[in-house]
Amino acid sequence: MKSRIFPNAFALLGIYFLISIALFSTPSQAVKHNLFRTCEQNKFCKRNRHIADYASSQTLEGKEWTSPYEIDVATVALNKDKTAKLTGNILKTTPKGFVTLPFSLSFLKSGIVRFTLDELKRQDGNIEIPGNKNIRKERYNDLDKWTLIEENLVLSDGTELNIEQVEHDLKISYGGGNKLFLQSNPFSIKFYRNEELQVVLNERGLLNLEHWRAQPPAPKEGEEQVKDSELNVWELEEGMWEDTFDGKTDKKVRGPESIALDISFIGFKHVYGIPEHSDSLSLRETRGQAEGHHKDPYRLFNVDIFEYEVDSPMAMYGSIPFMQAHKAGSSVGLYWNNAADTYVDIIKTRPSNDKMISSLQSTQTHWISESGLIDIFVILADDPSEVNEKYGSLTGYALLPQSFAIGHHQCRWNYNDKSDVLEVNSNFDKYDIPYDVIWLDIEYTDDKKYFTWNEKAFKGHDDMIKELDETKRKLVAIIDPHIKAVKGYKQFETLESKNLAICNTEDKPYHGHCWPGESVWIDTLSPEARKLWVSWFGKDQSWAGNNDNLHIWNDMNEPSVFSGPETTMDKNTVHFGGWEHRDVHNLYGMTYHNATLDALNERYNYKQRPFVLTRAYFAGSQRTAAMWTGDNMAKWEYLKAATPMILTSGVAGMPFAGADVGGFFGNPSTELLTRWYQAGAFYPFFRAHAHIDSKRREPWLAGEPYTSIIKSAIQLRYKLLPTFYSAFYQASIDGSPILKPLYYVTPNNEDSFAIDDEFYVGDSGILVKPVTEEGATSVNLYIPDDEFYYGYDDHEKIYKGVGNYRIEAPLNTIPMLLRGGHIHVRRDRPRRSATLMKYDPYTLVIALDKNGQAKGEMFIDDGESYNYEKGEYLRPEFELDIETGILSGTNEDETVLTPYLKSLWVEKIIIIGANANQIKEGTAEVVEQDEAGEEVKRSVQVKRLSQNSAVIVGPRVKLANDWSIEFK
Ligand code: NOJ
Repeated sequence: MKSRIFPNAFALLGIYFLISIALFSTPSQAVKHNLFRTCEQNKFCKRNRHIADYASSQTLEGKEWTSPYEIDVATVALNKDKTAKLTGNILKTTPKGFVTLPFSLSFLKSGIVRFTLDELKRQDGNIEIPGNKNIRKERYNDLDKWTLIEENLVLSDGTELNIEQVEHDLKISYGGGNKLFLQSNPFSIKFYRNEELQVVLNERGLLNLEHWRAQPPAPKEGEEQVKDSELNVWELEEGMWEDTFDGKTDKKVRGPESIALDISFIGFKHVYGIPEHSDSLSLRETRGQAEGHHKDPYRLFNVDIFEYEVDSPMAMYGSIPFMQAHKAGSSVGLYWNNAADTYVDIIKTRPSNDKMISSLQSTQTHWISESGLIDIFVILADDPSEVNEKYGSLTGYALLPQSFAIGHHQCRWNYNDKSDVLEVNSNFDKYDIPYDVIWLDIEYTDDKKYFTWNEKAFKGHDDMIKELDETKRKLVAIIDPHIKAVKGYKQFETLESKNLAICNTEDKPYHGHCWPGESVWIDTLSPEARKLWVSWFGKDQSWAGNNDNLHIWNDMNEPSVFSGPETTMDKNTVHFGGWEHRDVHNLYGMTYHNATLDALNERYNYKQRPFVLTRAYFAGSQRTAAMWTGDNMAKWEYLKAATPMILTSGVAGMPFAGADVGGFFGNPSTELLTRWYQAGAFYPFFRAHAHIDSKRREPWLAGEPYTSIIKSAIQLRYKLLPTFYSAFYQASIDGSPILKPLYYVTPNNEDSFAIDDEFYVGDSGILVKPVTEEGATSVNLYIPDDEFYYGYDDHEKIYKGVGNYRIEAPLNTIPMLLRGGHIHVRRDRPRRSATLMKYDPYTLVIALDKNGQAKGEMFIDDGESYNYEKGEYLRPEFELDIETGILSGTNEDETVLTPYLKSLWVEKIIIIGANANQIKEGTAEVVEQDEAGEEVKRSVQVKRLSQNSAVIVGPRVKLANDWSIEFK
């Protein structure tokens, strides 16, 4: 494996390349552990783990460990305006007395509870920062505006709370069977739902907020360093003022400021979420004894992790500090609103006689962030879907993509020139393989200067984009946040002259290295920088032309800094507003891709919904971008790892997710490539991508039988586009994952809770288990409930009963079943792109449940614009009951019917699970209400397909109309 550096550039970039060669070129294909800090090496994490160890050693020795935090009860009060918010102070005991920490406990109308904890001295700016006037004194308190949906933070009315005082503690009922118990000394909060304890904050007493103190003076020669007099005996001092790793020193001018809290999920054996990690769906222990547990906590710190490893808690490109816990009967969501470097330890308790409540098969977690506020949201719910809906009310739902964006994307690093692009484009037509988007990686630019072209290779780029448009294809071009620091380059000169780049401690643009060599980074936390960014995408900018089929890929936005610590930005750089990068590290990538979305919205004057792909992300990124899992490898274990990663992303509210099909590094065997397309055909974001050093692998190069098998997997995706699109719509209104883990459908079947190699596609009932083993010709598929399941293509195969089933899966087969009770929608006419399918008729596929019933719904709009927000859409619901013999299609929503929507019709209806007595061959009667509301009757032909299925040929019902079909 060669380096990912473009080889010819080596000579040009001197020292930088010496550094990056060391970092990025390795024949061994394994993550460089030495580049990334473990908890032990990241001293704020070590200090907090040390407290956890101290606390448990005390308990083991039979001594009592008590949290040094208590509520000052005299300060607790309900909001003056009588809204449901309690405020007061928590006191931290130190050897020098109490430190005052203002807290708030808010009860939102949505039923979510928010707890915040700040530090009075820093809040008031009553601290000294030696030598650094531009840095803010407060703990970072500006995150809400990026992550939260303000209008959904409305507080309940205080009168809706039922507060009962029990000595110094408070019992608060806050509606919907939810209650909490606020204990003052030691501080803890217990959350109950329907009288059952669900979550406890600070059960183990690991709450820690490192308060401000003056740095002890440096020792005089020959003297020992004076110990920090504010430290309790259980606290470590290490790394409070500076922390050196890999030869780089991070100076912490604000001193120690980490925060930590333990959160126990009572009776929950499974917790999920906190992407991004290449790991199982159900998170593993990080401190326990269980086999296969991790040694380090899960880390949330956006980094360009080169050649990442699977089954690992290591930090990756994105971070969403949202965790879900699930058990039969209830689910919990926990959102930790903090964008600093964060670790999460997980311990699963076993039944014991231990005094802790959580010792009964529970999950204990320990959250540790380097800086910022403690700001958490607790969601109690009946099931995982409700958790997603509520979490989405906080951080937003995914943007509904255009239909092209959920089609098949073709990328590689790089398509060499204009003719290469156009040739690949026409080869898709030649081989009759559908695709919608071709991508350009960094080599299209002039010397990695974004917003420019390599005019030699891409001479006539405007015509190229137009030609793609003529074949109804789009172009996605990469634009990264590092801006080459070179005179004469407009973007650099503007950032520098207006001081809109991320700054060093001297308030000058920070310089580091990335693809172009020496670079600066746009500071998209700054409103002015964002405006500038927006202007660079305008149709008046010559690089972008005035085409309407250009969309954007944002890469390297962790940000990736080859010369920086852990391949990222120094934590003591400074952003707009005087905030240290330390506070906003995980947020930066989102501010950047949000700015790109704004730019495309402006470019297109809000006439079409832009597509932006991002590598770095945070809570809220779902509102504006799709993500992919970064630089995987062309190996079977990475194909396997992609499924749980994509499922986790969906669980954490970021459903538009995918992995590089084929694997980024290396060359997949034709078998692996084929299996990857079969799996990728179900990824919400479906893109083939490859490293610059890998061999070309467009589908037609695989040769037969592979090319045909790949083609039919892609065609299947295109058939299912209406089903995917409807799932995307659902995600955009209630946060539902596009690919659902089994436990979403069977929330009471414990055996399904950890399954992460199978999934359902939205609410369609399609259950898929991609083949991820080399040479496999069958899979063991687990059916989690006793509904009927049918072979997707072979309707004669019916699976009944919970358990494992061997499903034949020769290379040309994707193991997939159809769960009884669902109706899903397809478009069965093969076309070259999603855009070209726009006017095609639909096929309904009905799979009857045990009782002979099925239901389904779909969403249709123009697939491009924001007009659906003004009511221009259809949301037909379908229902069949075999007993009454009536199938119906109805539109409940009052929508605005455009000529396009009125033109859409059904060409075929397949019914699975009905025998020849239930649906007879012959005719059925269609009753359709036409536009004028008149009933029109006609008969249609019904044919038997097999013993178990039938088809209605050409029912021609319009989806905008209400209709029924009665079987005789
Ligand atoms: C890193 C990205 O992860 C990869 O997909 C891309 O090809 C390279 N950067 C080059 O832009």
